[in-house]
Amino acid sequence: MSVAKEKEDPAPILSWSRRARILVADDDKFYLKIFSDLIAELGHDSLTVENGLEALEKVKDYRPDLVISDVVMPGMDGFELTKRLKHDPLTMYIPVLIITSLTDRESKVKGLDIGADELLSKPIDESEFRIRIKNMLKVKRYENFLVEHGKRLEGEVLNKDAQLHDAFEKIRNGYVETVYRLTLAAEYRDKETGGHIKRISLYSQILARYLGLPESKVESIFFASPMHDVGKIGIPDAILLKKGRHTIEEFDVMKTHTTIGGAILRDSDSEILKTAQEIALTHHESWNGAGYPLGLKGTEIPISGRIVHVADVYDALRSKRPYKEPFDHEITCSIMEAEIYRFDPTVYKAFVDCRDEFKRLFDEHQEEAI
Ligand SMILES: [Fe+2]
Repeated sequence: MSVAKEKEDPAPILSWSRRARILVADDDKFYLKIFSDLIAELGHDSLTVENGLEALEKVKDYRPDLVISDVVMPGMDGFELTKRLKHDPLTMYIPVLIITSLTDRESKVKGLDIGADELLSKPIDESEFRIRIKNMLKVKRYENFLVEHGKRLEGEVLNKDAQLHDAFEKIRNGYVETVYRLTLAAEYRDKETGGHIKRISLYSQILARYLGLPESKVESIFFASPMHDVGKIGIPDAILLKKGRHTIEEFDVMKTHTTIGGAILRDSDSEILKTAQEIALTHHESWNGAGYPLGLKGTEIPISGRIVHVADVYDALRSKRPYKEPFDHEITCSIMEAEIYRFDPTVYKAFVDCRDEFKRLFDEHQEEAI
């Protein structure tokens, strides 16, 4: 074995400017010398070995751009070498030129059949050898160019994907913040807090996900639920801010925050605003039909309304109101248990299963600024 020239570039890609690396396998030293001289004349480097096994050992380190192999060699012949190169994903794209003194048609067909890219016969015609090498390297360079170009395009697409994802996240966060701020503005007179609005979002998200709703619906409920009381903007101060319990007439006015909210949010094409309208209208409906504004019953109430109803009752019981002090988690749960008929049994069961999460969210999201 002899190295005609030291390899210069360990990169496997054959660029237009780089000298090619050619691995030559032949047990005949006379031919090895001829091949390496011709390759040097063409301006390329070569590494010569004397059998197929040695060629296989060298190919992974040398990473040739082209393999030239004799057929009949001791140990492993050129057919076996070609077959192994073409079956290994790391080497399958290296073009192989088989040079054979076998003249029968069957051997030539076999060579091409196992994946050799070109065949030449011994004794070799030097001009033909040069042309074949040039052509094979040209094809290899085009292939490499296309592979590199494909990778570059793939990288650009991934980069654009990442940019789009970032842009989407910014818009999403901006949207959530806008909803929180506008809802807070609408409820400002009612002394609702950023903490309350966030908690309703988070409780509703937990219940929707636990109930196995599609993720797109979970997301709509997450974004829409903070707007459940937006209709309070239409309730007169004297009633909304009254200290102490409302009269029946006043409470009838308070109830209209559901229909006012529904009217504010109606006729939108946005899934989120459609869900928000649904929630605004139905978050005070009760499973037993005793809620308001329509007295809907059971599954007449949309699932979003049934979910936010449970979330809103929990949060209202835990919070201070003009007419009541806050209850702790355990008392809140026992009050809800006593009024279980108000809730969709499936949603209530989800609440029971997730109530530790509710407690954690209530503790973590207190009177926070948005
Ligand atoms: Fe409400």
